[in-house]
Amino acid sequence: GIKLVTIGGGSSYTPEFVEGIIKRYDELPVRELWLVDIEAGKEKLDIVGNLARRMVKKANLPMDVHLTLDREAALQNADFVTTQIRVGLLESRIKDERIPIKHGMIGQETNGAGGLFKALRTIPVLMDIAEDMQRLCPNAWLINFTNPAGMVTEAIIKHSNHKKVVGVCNVPINMKITIANLLNVPVEKVQIKFAGLNHMSYGIDVFVDGKSKLTKVIELLANPENQLSMNNIAPIPWEGEFIKALHMIPSPYHRYYYKTGEILTKEQKEFEQGKTRAEVVKELENKLFELYKDPNLNIKPPQLAERGGAYYSNVACDLISSIYNNKGDIQTLNVVNNGAISSLPNDTVVEVNCTVTNNGPIPLAVGRLPFSINGLIQQIKSFELTAIEAAITGSYEKALLALCINPLITDDEKAKVILDELLEAHKAYLPQF
Ligand code: G6P
Ligand code: MN
Repeated sequence: GIKLVTIGGGSSYTPEFVEGIIKRYDELPVRELWLVDIEAGKEKLDIVGNLARRMVKKANLPMDVHLTLDREAALQNADFVTTQIRVGLLESRIKDERIPIKHGMIGQETNGAGGLFKALRTIPVLMDIAEDMQRLCPNAWLINFTNPAGMVTEAIIKHSNHKKVVGVCNVPINMKITIANLLNVPVEKVQIKFAGLNHMSYGIDVFVDGKSKLTKVIELLANPENQLSMNNIAPIPWEGEFIKALHMIPSPYHRYYYKTGEILTKEQKEFEQGKTRAEVVKELENKLFELYKDPNLNIKPPQLAERGGAYYSNVACDLISSIYNNKGDIQTLNVVNNGAISSLPNDTVVEVNCTVTNNGPIPLAVGRLPFSINGLIQQIKSFELTAIEAAITGSYEKALLALCINPLITDDEKAKVILDELLEAHKAYLPQF
């Protein structure tokens, strides 16, 4: 049987993950599920952990659910470890979203200044987890959901001794589901060729039964009614002409880069009303935990689908199952490039399709990025590399440079103002600075 450990187990998302494990139990026999959290998350861990236990009991499976604050005990001889933590909790995300917008720049969980600070807070903690794993379960795979997932994964692979790390995100699977619905074919028949970085990857081609359907998909997507957004991103419609000109499938996150003005206006309003996404999520979380407390609830409540992370458990469970069962199927993951995208460095992390074996994911060749998207992806990669250096070294200059490189920060003096304010606001979580 499998020993599976989830760090950040008190997350409101956990019921979806538990449901995913239960559904796949025949192929994925998890005998021990360890949900780990920190002292500050103990109450949430108890509530969500007890719901997990009721779900397992209802399914009548031989799986023990352990709830613990003792990370070392949990990691001992683990087979798979998933991470879904939020350093500084939602209070920190609120600051990441509100402080930049106050100075006229986009405030977002994983993009721009908010994304930089999430990386600065998170990378040291994930580095510790990776080093613990190297000691306590060196053969275990770390499946990292913790955002910014691409940067966090790259930091661990480059700077820790634990190399068995895969970064995951639910955006590619959401894009795939939308496209399958548009084409009216089962999702298993659709293959999207993804290329880019986490929250910055494009569908550069689409195949159904091995035949490209890109032209058809572009025609459909040029109609705003068919377009994809996600619960956490304003569904601002794409211009039909833009979609046709791009001739690729953008990710919902690309709105921050191609529709910066409109998003800024929208965020400004939300800022004034105290309704930034983080503030909305906080309310939603409170409601979810009220539901989770109900001793008669033994399923994942449908309200959880209001979070942006819907389908995240499919991604995690499919990955774990394909590694465990050596399936060799294709999944979109954040892994070391190794030449897959020839216009990016070999040792950097990219989001691409991979064949998943029991030796882990092997990225499939993309070749050079089309030049129409290469520039933006290169610029974001420069930002990521600089941000990772800042997170590891605690260098003020690197952090400032990262902000100045980022396309969502359009002014170096404002970059400094925002940087100083965020450093002060988050100082309890930035020991390296
Ligand atoms: C998407 C992204 C996740 C992100 C989430 C935010 O699912 O892929 O990486 O964390 O949205 O959703 P939330 O409900 O927290 O705003
Ligand atoms: Mn994501």
